[in-house]
Amino acid sequence: MKKILVVFGTRPEAIKMAPVVKALQKNKLFETKLCITGQHRQMLDQVMDIFAMKADFDLNVMGHNQTLVDVTCKVLKGMEDVFGQWRPDMILVQGDTTTVFAAALAAFYHKIDVGHIEAGLRTGNRYSPWPEEMNRLLATRMSTLHFAPTETSKNNLLDEKVDPKTVFVTGNTVIDALFKALAIIDSDISLNNELAAKFNFIDHKKRLILVTGHRRENFGDGFLQICRAIAQLADRDDVQIIYPMHMNPHVRQPVNEILSGKKNVFLIEPLDYLSFLYVMRRSYLILTDSGGVQEEAPSLGKPVIVMRDTTERPEAIAAGTVVLAGAEQEKIAGYAFKLLDDQVFYDKMAHAHNPYGDGKAAERIIEILSS
Ligand code: UD1
Ligand code: UDP
Repeated sequence: MKKILVVFGTRPEAIKMAPVVKALQKNKLFETKLCITGQHRQMLDQVMDIFAMKADFDLNVMGHNQTLVDVTCKVLKGMEDVFGQWRPDMILVQGDTTTVFAAALAAFYHKIDVGHIEAGLRTGNRYSPWPEEMNRLLATRMSTLHFAPTETSKNNLLDEKVDPKTVFVTGNTVIDALFKALAIIDSDISLNNELAAKFNFIDHKKRLILVTGHRRENFGDGFLQICRAIAQLADRDDVQIIYPMHMNPHVRQPVNEILSGKKNVFLIEPLDYLSFLYVMRRSYLILTDSGGVQEEAPSLGKPVIVMRDTTERPEAIAAGTVVLAGAEQEKIAGYAFKLLDDQVFYDKMAHAHNPYGDGKAAERIIEILSS
């Protein structure tokens, strides 16, 4: 049996790893253990609960307002302790967080293979997103297997002279998770009623705008501009805005300062995945700087205004369902007003399109791991 240690630490990694964990645990060829770093605590635990995952190791690293160095050092040392207790043949990591970089480095120091899921995303700008672009570049160098979500990401890896025999296009496991979660929502009437009751403040006569945001490079002026754009939108009588706030204090401070008490704006705690998808489906448009949301929204036919200067996910832009606005008040508000007032523009963006996979990425990854 091949010994696999799946490692993750933040909300999006957990969502995207859940289908892989489930598929590995069902497969007799593997002995699978799960290590969570706890880079996120509450937002990670929410996902563990929804997907009924249990960790074998929990590094529990999160500290209030942690620095990148804090997380890196704690994960690096924590992984070494785990390897002392149970040495896997390979670790699997997902994406571009500091958990990914530090866990891959620890594995490399111990001469343990690394499989990197969602490999090959690039903006070409080391500070945007920061620190994720560097995390994924370094994760690539330390990985022995690369699971690229799209042909574009595969080509990015080949351009960097990664051995083509180690690169596989699998689709993104976020689509596996999305399809599974939507199936749960659609098949459970009592859950549906629960969700409808939870969000009974949504006004059917208004158009719903969903907002999320958390990128480090937007802290400071970027977030002020984002919040001012939202405030401008909130002055309209025909919209409602739901903003599940990321728990990072750098996000909460400006958001609370500028938006709390605004009519039409609902500042709420992070939503569990099923609730978030329910709201995403009910929304008219989405404002976000999130990677995962950029991948999910096109499948649901929701236009997305990306509040960043760059994206490592050009596929949805090419398909016309996503636009880049930067963290600039005028541009964000401009696009949002256009989507609200220009039906032709809206219809052009609001078509369902899914460049990120067919829901079978985890299956492909397992197949490659077993060969
Ligand atoms: C991290 C990742 C980012 C990813 C994002 C997903 C890094 C450097 N950043 O950013 O790539 O896109 O997660 O959401 O890896 N906090 C809590 N509870 C939680 C989670 C966070 O209180 O459940 C607060 C803590 O004060 C913590 C702070 O948020 O110190 C920042 O968390 P951190 O993981 O360092 O950065 P994120 O901005 O969440
Ligand atoms: N998400 C969630 N609850 C929320 C906001 C987002 O479950 O309140 C999900 C979302 O559907 C997506 C993922 O979390 O799958 C995105 O996480 P985040 O934006 O924190 O990180 P990123 O994808 O930018 O790394």
